[in-house]
Amino acid sequence: MPDNGENRIVLAITGASGAIYAIRLLDALCRSDLEIHLTISPSGAAVIGEETGLAVDVRKPNLIELISHVPKWSSVAKPDAAKLETAISQRVRFHQYDDYMTPIASGSFRTRAMVVCPCSGSTLSGIARAASTNLVQRAAEVHLKEHRKLVLVPRETPLSSIALENMHRLSVAGAVLLPAMPGWYHGVDSLDSLVDFVVSRILDQLQIDNSMIARWGE
Ligand SMILES: Cc1cc2nc3c(=O)[nH]c(=O)nc-3n(C[C@H](O)[C@H](O)[C@H](O)COP(=O)(O)O)c2cc1C
Repeated sequence: MPDNGENRIVLAITGASGAIYAIRLLDALCRSDLEIHLTISPSGAAVIGEETGLAVDVRKPNLIELISHVPKWSSVAKPDAAKLETAISQRVRFHQYDDYMTPIASGSFRTRAMVVCPCSGSTLSGIARAASTNLVQRAAEVHLKEHRKLVLVPRETPLSSIALENMHRLSVAGAVLLPAMPGWYHGVDSLDSLVDFVVSRILDQLQIDNSMIARWGE
């Protein structure tokens, strides 16, 4: 693949509920041939811990353990350990949430797109104000200023007018607001299919071919 950044995806995991979306998305990205630039906020790690029971070291997360996590309610097969290990060592670059020296903090480092999944209201607000108070917000700001794709996956309910204003502001600035709101029209038969719905819509935005859900009319 040409080195114009088209093979690079940035994924930030922040402290909104829905760790399973991030885990399934990471798994899908590891199965692709893309280079994955991953960062996790401390609150993101805390919520993953709360929702999965995994202790995530925000400085040096055990990615094999994280991506291999399958909840009790899920019937998804665990990823092949050897393939996953190879994918992680060859294609996943982990960046610490407070490291501004890292490539994804600069617009000169080319990428295809960035996803914040799940995206907390706090991160949403920081990006909407171009605050750049951590690497997640800075990398998102870079994607906006460079007019590259930025996909935000907020999870909150109900939504305050402030959150709605932030979302509107971000949408006007070019971000894609893709709330973790699964549809129920694709033959839902399990919680997995609800997770897959959201992950599939994110992959579509990243132009990553996938057949995680039955598509309407196809
Ligand atoms: C268990 C748990 C669940 C949370 N769920 C949400 C949520 O669904 N949406 C949200 O916006 N914030 C949620 N929060 C609050 C955020 O984690 C908090 O605002 C934090 O400051 C976000 O920091 P970050 O954006 O740097 O990750 C949750 C916190 C905890 C501990």
